[in-house]
Amino acid sequence: MILLTGATGFIGAHILRALSEKNLRVRCLVRKPASSEKPNISYVTGDVLDYDSLVKATEGVETVYYFIHMMGNQPRGEQKRFDTLDRLAINNMVRACQINGVKRIIHLTGIRAPQEKLSHHLESRKEVEEIIKNSGIGYTIFRASVIIGRGGAAFDILDTAVRKLPIIPVFNWENTKIQPIYIGDVVRYLVECLDKKDTVNKCYDIGCSQVFTYKELMQQYAKELGLKKSFISIPGSWNWLSAMVLGKIAPVNPNVVYWLIESLHNNMVCEPNDLEVIFRFEPLSFEESIRKIAESK
Ligand SMILES: NC(=O)c1ccc[n+]([C@@H]2O[C@H](COP(=O)([O-])OP(=O)(O)OC[C@H]3O[C@@H](n4cnc5c(N)ncnc54)[C@H](OP(=O)(O)O)[C@@H]3O)[C@@H](O)[C@H]2O)c1
Repeated sequence: MILLTGATGFIGAHILRALSEKNLRVRCLVRKPASSEKPNISYVTGDVLDYDSLVKATEGVETVYYFIHMMGNQPRGEQKRFDTLDRLAINNMVRACQINGVKRIIHLTGIRAPQEKLSHHLESRKEVEEIIKNSGIGYTIFRASVIIGRGGAAFDILDTAVRKLPIIPVFNWENTKIQPIYIGDVVRYLVECLDKKDTVNKCYDIGCSQVFTYKELMQQYAKELGLKKSFISIPGSWNWLSAMVLGKIAPVNPNVVYWLIESLHNNMVCEPNDLEVIFRFEPLSFEESIRKIAESK
Protein backbone atom coordinates (compact mmCIF):
# COMPACT_ATOMS: atom_id res chain seq x y z
CA MET A 1 0.00 0.00 0.00
CA ILE A 2 1.18 3.51 -0.90
CA LEU A 3 0.21 6.60 1.10
CA LEU A 4 0.06 9.69 -1.12
CA THR A 5 0.17 13.05 0.62
CA GLY A 6 -0.59 16.29 -1.23
CA ALA A 7 -2.94 14.42 -3.58
CA THR A 8 -4.97 17.62 -4.14
CA GLY A 9 -1.83 19.60 -5.06
CA PHE A 10 0.08 20.04 -8.31
CA ILE A 11 2.58 17.20 -7.97
CA GLY A 12 0.32 14.86 -5.95
CA ALA A 13 -2.53 15.03 -8.48
CA HIS A 14 -0.17 14.05 -11.31
CA ILE A 15 1.27 11.20 -9.25
CA LEU A 16 -2.19 9.95 -8.30
CA ARG A 17 -3.10 9.70 -11.98
CA ALA A 18 0.12 7.82 -12.79
CA LEU A 19 -0.18 5.39 -9.85
CA SER A 20 -3.82 4.78 -10.63
CA GLU A 21 -2.93 3.90 -14.26
CA LYS A 22 -0.46 1.34 -12.90
CA ASN A 23 -3.25 -0.14 -10.78
CA LEU A 24 -1.26 0.26 -7.59
CA ARG A 25 -3.08 0.42 -4.27
CA VAL A 26 -3.03 4.01 -3.13
CA ARG A 27 -4.42 5.69 -0.01
CA CYS A 28 -4.58 9.49 -0.32
CA LEU A 29 -4.26 11.66 2.76
CA VAL A 30 -6.62 14.64 2.35
CA ARG A 31 -7.84 17.37 4.65
CA LYS A 32 -11.39 17.42 3.25
CA PRO A 33 -13.27 14.11 3.05
CA ALA A 34 -13.22 12.57 -0.45
CA SER A 35 -14.16 9.29 -2.06
CA SER A 36 -13.06 7.29 -5.08
CA GLU A 37 -14.87 5.15 -7.62
CA LYS A 38 -11.72 3.16 -8.34
CA PRO A 39 -11.21 0.09 -6.14
CA ASN A 40 -7.44 0.59 -5.86
CA ILE A 41 -7.71 4.24 -4.72
CA SER A 42 -8.95 5.18 -1.26
CA TYR A 43 -8.99 8.36 0.82
CA VAL A 44 -8.24 8.95 4.46
CA THR A 45 -9.00 12.28 6.10
CA GLY A 46 -6.11 13.71 8.08
CA ASP A 47 -3.67 16.53 8.49
CA VAL A 48 0.10 16.38 8.64
CA LEU A 49 -0.07 18.70 11.67
CA ASP A 50 -2.15 16.07 13.50
CA TYR A 51 0.10 13.17 14.53
CA ASP A 52 -2.73 10.79 15.44
CA SER A 53 -4.29 11.11 11.98
CA LEU A 54 -0.92 10.15 10.46
CA VAL A 55 -0.60 7.07 12.65
CA LYS A 56 -3.97 5.94 11.28
CA ALA A 57 -3.08 6.91 7.69
CA THR A 58 0.25 5.02 7.66
CA GLU A 59 -1.13 1.72 8.99
CA GLY A 60 -0.21 -1.10 6.58
CA VAL A 61 1.68 1.32 4.33
CA GLU A 62 4.99 0.44 2.69
CA THR A 63 5.79 3.69 0.86
CA VAL A 64 4.85 7.29 1.59
CA TYR A 65 4.96 10.01 -1.06
CA TYR A 66 5.56 13.24 0.81
CA PHE A 67 4.42 16.26 -1.27
CA ILE A 68 3.60 18.85 1.34
CA HIS A 69 4.73 22.41 1.92
CA MET A 70 3.21 25.00 4.22
CA MET A 71 4.05 28.22 2.39
CA GLY A 72 0.42 28.97 1.63
CA ASN A 73 -1.01 27.81 4.94
CA GLN A 74 -0.15 30.51 7.42
CA PRO A 75 -2.74 32.78 8.94
CA ARG A 76 -2.35 36.42 7.87
CA GLY A 77 0.44 38.20 9.72
CA GLU A 78 2.21 34.97 10.60
CA GLN A 79 3.85 34.29 7.26
CA LYS A 80 7.23 33.51 8.77
CA ARG A 81 5.85 30.50 10.60
CA PHE A 82 5.74 28.21 7.59
CA ASP A 83 9.11 26.67 8.41
CA THR A 84 7.90 25.81 11.94
CA LEU A 85 4.82 24.15 10.46
CA ASP A 86 6.86 22.26 7.86
CA ARG A 87 9.19 20.99 10.63
CA LEU A 88 6.28 19.86 12.77
CA ALA A 89 4.58 18.20 9.80
CA ILE A 90 7.57 16.15 8.68
CA ASN A 91 8.45 15.18 12.26
CA ASN A 92 4.88 13.93 12.70
CA MET A 93 5.07 11.96 9.47
CA VAL A 94 8.45 10.42 10.29
CA ARG A 95 7.26 9.36 13.77
CA ALA A 96 4.09 7.82 12.32
CA CYS A 97 6.14 5.98 9.66
CA GLN A 98 8.49 4.64 12.33
CA ILE A 99 5.59 3.34 14.48
CA ASN A 100 4.03 1.57 11.49
CA GLY A 101 7.23 0.24 9.90
CA VAL A 102 6.97 2.24 6.65
CA LYS A 103 9.89 1.23 4.41
CA ARG A 104 10.42 4.28 2.22
CA ILE A 105 9.56 7.97 1.92
CA ILE A 106 9.68 9.42 -1.59
CA HIS A 107 9.96 13.19 -1.59
CA LEU A 108 10.31 16.07 -4.04
CA THR A 109 12.05 19.24 -2.98
CA GLY A 110 14.03 22.20 -4.37
CA ILE A 111 17.55 22.18 -5.84
CA ARG A 112 20.02 24.20 -3.81
CA ALA A 113 23.61 25.27 -4.26
CA PRO A 114 25.50 24.08 -1.15
CA GLN A 115 27.69 27.19 -0.84
CA GLU A 116 24.86 29.77 -1.13
CA LYS A 117 22.88 31.55 1.57
CA LEU A 118 19.45 30.05 1.07
CA SER A 119 16.08 31.79 1.00
CA HIS A 120 13.58 30.98 3.79
CA HIS A 121 11.78 28.62 1.41
CA LEU A 122 14.87 26.65 0.38
CA GLU A 123 16.27 26.60 3.92
CA SER A 124 13.01 25.06 5.11
CA ARG A 125 12.98 22.55 2.19
CA LYS A 126 16.55 21.58 3.16
CA GLU A 127 15.50 21.03 6.77
CA VAL A 128 12.60 18.76 5.74
CA GLU A 129 14.96 16.78 3.52
CA GLU A 130 17.48 16.37 6.39
CA ILE A 131 14.75 15.15 8.76
CA ILE A 132 13.74 12.47 6.24
CA LYS A 133 17.37 11.45 5.63
CA ASN A 134 18.10 11.16 9.34
CA SER A 135 14.91 9.23 10.17
CA GLY A 136 16.33 5.74 9.65
CA ILE A 137 13.52 5.12 7.12
CA GLY A 138 14.52 4.39 3.50
CA TYR A 139 14.17 7.40 1.24
CA THR A 140 14.40 8.63 -2.34
CA ILE A 141 14.59 12.38 -2.74
CA PHE A 142 14.40 14.29 -6.00
CA ARG A 143 15.23 17.98 -6.19
CA ALA A 144 13.88 20.20 -8.96
CA SER A 145 13.87 23.91 -9.88
CA VAL A 146 11.00 25.29 -11.97
CA ILE A 147 8.65 22.50 -13.03
CA ILE A 148 7.03 23.16 -16.40
CA GLY A 149 3.35 22.31 -16.03
CA ARG A 150 0.05 24.14 -15.61
CA GLY A 151 -0.92 24.42 -11.95
CA GLY A 152 2.70 24.48 -10.79
CA ALA A 153 3.22 27.66 -8.76
CA ALA A 154 6.59 28.62 -10.27
CA PHE A 155 5.41 27.93 -13.81
CA ASP A 156 2.14 29.82 -13.35
CA ILE A 157 4.07 32.85 -12.10
CA LEU A 158 6.40 32.68 -15.12
CA ASP A 159 3.44 32.28 -17.46
CA THR A 160 1.57 35.23 -15.92
CA ALA A 161 4.59 37.54 -15.99
CA VAL A 162 5.36 36.78 -19.63
CA ARG A 163 1.78 36.91 -20.90
CA LYS A 164 0.38 39.78 -18.85
CA LEU A 165 3.16 42.30 -18.20
CA PRO A 166 3.58 44.69 -21.14
CA ILE A 167 7.21 45.39 -20.12
CA ILE A 168 8.89 42.81 -17.91
CA PRO A 169 11.03 44.21 -15.11
CA VAL A 170 14.01 42.06 -14.12
CA PHE A 171 15.67 42.74 -10.81
CA ASN A 172 18.98 41.71 -9.24
CA TRP A 173 18.10 38.06 -9.77
CA GLU A 174 18.12 38.35 -13.56
CA ASN A 175 21.32 36.29 -13.88
CA THR A 176 20.44 33.56 -11.38
CA LYS A 177 20.73 30.19 -13.11
CA ILE A 178 18.10 27.47 -13.19
CA GLN A 179 17.53 24.15 -14.94
CA PRO A 180 13.80 23.61 -15.50
CA ILE A 181 12.08 20.24 -16.02
CA TYR A 182 8.84 19.06 -17.62
CA ILE A 183 6.17 17.78 -15.22
CA GLY A 184 5.85 14.52 -17.20
CA ASP A 185 9.52 13.78 -16.57
CA VAL A 186 9.20 14.58 -12.86
CA VAL A 187 6.31 12.12 -12.66
CA ARG A 188 8.36 9.44 -14.44
CA TYR A 189 11.19 9.75 -11.92
CA LEU A 190 8.85 9.76 -8.92
CA VAL A 191 6.82 6.76 -10.09
CA GLU A 192 9.47 4.63 -11.77
CA CYS A 193 11.77 4.85 -8.73
CA LEU A 194 9.27 2.60 -6.92
CA ASP A 195 10.72 -0.41 -8.77
CA LYS A 196 14.32 0.73 -8.74
CA LYS A 197 16.08 -0.45 -5.61
CA ASP A 198 19.24 1.45 -6.64
CA THR A 199 17.41 4.68 -5.85
CA VAL A 200 16.82 3.84 -2.16
CA ASN A 201 18.67 6.19 0.21
CA LYS A 202 19.65 8.48 -2.67
CA CYS A 203 19.05 12.13 -3.55
CA TYR A 204 19.00 13.36 -7.13
CA ASP A 205 18.85 16.80 -8.72
CA ILE A 206 16.57 16.62 -11.77
CA GLY A 207 16.37 19.00 -14.72
CA CYS A 208 16.55 19.19 -18.50
CA SER A 209 19.97 19.53 -20.10
CA GLN A 210 19.64 23.33 -20.54
CA VAL A 211 20.67 25.93 -18.00
CA PHE A 212 19.01 29.36 -18.27
CA THR A 213 19.19 32.59 -16.36
CA TYR A 214 15.72 33.73 -15.24
CA LYS A 215 15.86 36.46 -17.88
CA GLU A 216 16.76 33.96 -20.61
CA LEU A 217 13.97 31.65 -19.43
CA MET A 218 11.39 34.42 -19.79
CA GLN A 219 12.82 35.46 -23.17
CA GLN A 220 12.71 31.88 -24.43
CA TYR A 221 9.18 31.37 -23.10
CA ALA A 222 7.98 34.59 -24.80
CA LYS A 223 9.58 33.36 -28.03
CA GLU A 224 7.78 29.99 -27.77
CA LEU A 225 4.48 31.83 -27.25
CA GLY A 226 5.19 34.07 -30.21
CA LEU A 227 5.14 37.19 -28.00
CA LYS A 228 7.45 40.17 -28.47
CA LYS A 229 8.39 41.39 -24.99
CA SER A 230 10.71 44.11 -23.70
CA PHE A 231 12.70 43.66 -20.54
CA ILE A 232 13.94 46.40 -18.25
CA SER A 233 16.74 45.79 -15.73
CA ILE A 234 16.11 47.48 -12.38
CA PRO A 235 18.69 47.48 -9.57
CA GLY A 236 17.65 45.96 -6.22
CA SER A 237 15.34 43.06 -5.48
CA TRP A 238 11.88 44.66 -4.90
CA ASN A 239 10.49 41.35 -3.61
CA TRP A 240 7.46 42.82 -1.83
CA LEU A 241 6.44 44.92 -4.80
CA SER A 242 6.88 42.02 -7.27
CA ALA A 243 4.95 39.68 -4.99
CA MET A 244 2.17 42.23 -4.53
CA VAL A 245 1.70 42.66 -8.28
CA LEU A 246 2.10 38.97 -9.24
CA GLY A 247 0.11 37.82 -6.21
CA LYS A 248 -2.84 39.77 -7.60
CA ILE A 249 -2.64 38.66 -11.23
CA ALA A 250 -1.23 35.10 -11.07
CA PRO A 251 -3.47 32.12 -10.14
CA VAL A 252 -1.20 31.34 -7.18
CA ASN A 253 -1.58 31.83 -3.42
CA PRO A 254 0.01 35.27 -2.73
CA ASN A 255 2.06 33.93 0.21
CA VAL A 256 3.54 31.26 -2.05
CA VAL A 257 4.28 33.94 -4.67
CA TYR A 258 6.21 35.95 -2.08
CA TRP A 259 8.36 33.06 -0.86
CA LEU A 260 9.11 31.88 -4.39
CA ILE A 261 10.13 35.40 -5.42
CA GLU A 262 12.40 35.57 -2.39
CA SER A 263 14.11 32.41 -3.72
CA LEU A 264 14.92 33.94 -7.11
CA HIS A 265 18.44 34.84 -5.97
CA ASN A 266 19.33 31.16 -5.40
CA ASN A 267 20.86 29.25 -8.32
CA MET A 268 19.14 25.93 -8.99
CA VAL A 269 21.43 23.91 -11.23
CA CYS A 270 21.75 20.11 -11.11
CA GLU A 271 24.77 18.32 -9.68
CA PRO A 272 25.81 15.48 -12.02
CA ASN A 273 24.28 12.05 -11.29
CA ASP A 274 23.68 8.60 -12.83
CA LEU A 275 19.92 9.02 -13.44
CA GLU A 276 20.17 8.46 -17.19
CA VAL A 277 21.76 5.04 -16.58
CA ILE A 278 19.14 4.05 -13.99
CA PHE A 279 16.01 5.45 -15.69
CA ARG A 280 17.07 5.22 -19.35
CA PHE A 281 15.47 8.45 -20.52
CA GLU A 282 16.50 12.04 -20.96
CA PRO A 283 14.18 14.83 -19.80
CA LEU A 284 12.56 16.95 -22.52
CA SER A 285 14.12 20.27 -23.47
CA PHE A 286 12.42 23.45 -22.26
CA GLU A 287 11.01 24.13 -25.74
CA GLU A 288 9.61 20.59 -26.04
CA SER A 289 8.08 20.92 -22.57
CA ILE A 290 6.27 24.11 -23.57
CA ARG A 291 4.94 22.43 -26.72
CA LYS A 292 3.72 19.43 -24.71
CA ILE A 293 1.80 21.72 -22.40
CA ALA A 294 0.24 23.57 -25.32
CA GLU A 295 -0.84 20.21 -26.84
CA SER A 296 -2.47 19.03 -23.60
CA LYS A 297 -4.68 22.16 -23.23
N1 LIG B 1 5.65 23.05 -8.03
C1 LIG B 1 6.95 23.13 -8.32
O1 LIG B 1 7.38 23.77 -9.31
C2 LIG B 1 7.93 22.42 -7.41
C3 LIG B 1 9.30 22.53 -7.74
C4 LIG B 1 10.21 21.86 -6.93
C5 LIG B 1 9.79 21.14 -5.84
N2 LIG B 1 8.45 21.07 -5.53
C6 LIG B 1 8.06 20.31 -4.33
O2 LIG B 1 6.98 19.47 -4.59
C7 LIG B 1 6.24 19.27 -3.38
C8 LIG B 1 4.76 19.46 -3.65
O3 LIG B 1 4.57 20.77 -4.15
P1 LIG B 1 3.29 21.19 -5.02
O4 LIG B 1 3.77 22.15 -6.04
O5 LIG B 1 2.53 19.99 -5.45
O6 LIG B 1 2.45 21.98 -3.92
P2 LIG B 1 0.89 22.37 -3.89
O7 LIG B 1 0.31 22.27 -5.25
O8 LIG B 1 0.79 23.66 -3.16
O9 LIG B 1 0.23 21.22 -2.99
C9 LIG B 1 0.47 21.15 -1.61
C10 LIG B 1 -0.33 20.01 -1.06
O10 LIG B 1 -0.09 19.93 0.35
C11 LIG B 1 -1.35 19.72 1.00
N3 LIG B 1 -1.28 20.21 2.37
C12 LIG B 1 -0.92 21.44 2.79
N4 LIG B 1 -1.01 21.52 4.13
C13 LIG B 1 -1.44 20.30 4.55
C14 LIG B 1 -1.73 19.75 5.82
N5 LIG B 1 -1.60 20.48 6.94
N6 LIG B 1 -2.13 18.46 5.92
C15 LIG B 1 -2.29 17.71 4.79
N7 LIG B 1 -2.05 18.18 3.54
C16 LIG B 1 -1.62 19.46 3.43
C17 LIG B 1 -2.34 20.52 0.18
O11 LIG B 1 -3.64 20.06 0.47
P3 LIG B 1 -4.93 21.02 0.51
O12 LIG B 1 -5.60 20.84 -0.83
O13 LIG B 1 -5.76 20.48 1.64
O14 LIG B 1 -4.47 22.42 0.76
C18 LIG B 1 -1.86 20.17 -1.23
O15 LIG B 1 -2.40 18.94 -1.65
C19 LIG B 1 6.81 20.25 -2.35
O16 LIG B 1 7.68 19.54 -1.49
C20 LIG B 1 7.61 21.22 -3.21
O17 LIG B 1 8.71 21.77 -2.52
C21 LIG B 1 7.51 21.69 -6.30
